[in-house]
Amino acid sequence: MSNFLAACRRQPVSQIPIWFLRQAGRYMAAYRDVRSRYSFLEMVKNPEAACEVTLQPVEAFGVDAAIIFADILPPLESLGFQLEFIRGEGPLIRNPLREAQQVAHLKDPDPKHDLAFTFEALRLARRRLEPRGTPLIGFAGAPFTLASYAIEGGGSRDKALTKTWMRTNPDAWARFMTILADLTVAYLTEQVAAGAQALQLFDSWIGELSPGDYLKYVQPYSLRILNALEPLDVPLIHFGTGTAGFLEHLREAGGHVIGLDWRVDALEASHRLGANVAIQGNLDPTLLLGPWEVLRGEADRLLDQLGARPGFIFNVGHGLLPSTPEDQVARLVEHVHAHTV
Ligand code: CP3
Repeated sequence: MSNFLAACRRQPVSQIPIWFLRQAGRYMAAYRDVRSRYSFLEMVKNPEAACEVTLQPVEAFGVDAAIIFADILPPLESLGFQLEFIRGEGPLIRNPLREAQQVAHLKDPDPKHDLAFTFEALRLARRRLEPRGTPLIGFAGAPFTLASYAIEGGGSRDKALTKTWMRTNPDAWARFMTILADLTVAYLTEQVAAGAQALQLFDSWIGELSPGDYLKYVQPYSLRILNALEPLDVPLIHFGTGTAGFLEHLREAGGHVIGLDWRVDALEASHRLGANVAIQGNLDPTLLLGPWEVLRGEADRLLDQLGARPGFIFNVGHGLLPSTPEDQVARLVEHVHAHTV
């Protein structure tokens, strides 16, 4: 078994596995080259292009897992939301959810048909990864993070509209979160059928919530998804940022691996999460922008803290930044692989 899949299952590894959130992206010249020929969404919806960039970081740096090139937002199109990506500004939804009644009029989603491009990209990528034995990760956004885009109409700093909406319309919120959860289960189940060997659930913006609000408004739906995926028998990675205040609640929602950002001490998180779950993260991605000696020092500190723990996957705590030098990524992969286990 690959070191990545073994670590997800807390089994022994021959090297600490390493991959990066947003490892296929603008910091790579090879990515920018493909991207110059397509818009971002065209690239996501073109299986050959998506497969190509999925493989780029595997071929360039020898990372221990590939993550399919896609985005968390296209499933919202399946519900009738009009999604665009504005160059330099990120995602925009032309018809955001503003009234509680809108929930009843969402399109009946058909993920198998509407998201066929990602399943095809997975099939292509799996075929090309198979000979090198590199596992392929599928993913989806978690309901709160998806709802925040659907309600805000795009990115937002404080998620104030979303939080006000959920408290003002608790019944419509429960219905919307259930719709998103069931769509996510169908989408991820189909990703495994198309070749995904592990799944990551991105609840990227969950750290905007208090522990109490997380428990009340979010945890039931993440639990619903992770429970429903359990029979697929692939490792489930449950990721969020800003989760230090409610790590235990995140863990209770499920997942075989918990993804951590850098705002929590790795050893403290490890104690709080307990031994029955693997950990992925938690390097600050801005460390890759600075001197190698500092990056190496922090990587060694993390390896000292968690390297001997059954179930550790080296990763950044959130996506690599577009200004990341490629040679820093290469050196870090080499360094982590050289660590004695
Ligand atoms: O990690 C990977 O390499 C796989 C690909 C991947 C992308 N998006 C590609 C992408 C993954 C796993 C995502 C998930 C995603 N998308 C999340 C959750 C993860 C996270 O970062 O918290 C979120 C919130 C989104 C929504 C999204 N997509 C935003 C807010 C943006 C704009 C911000 C930005 O970096 O430009 C995107 C665009 C996006 N998704 C890019 C990439 C490579 C950049 C697009 C470009 O080439 O212009």
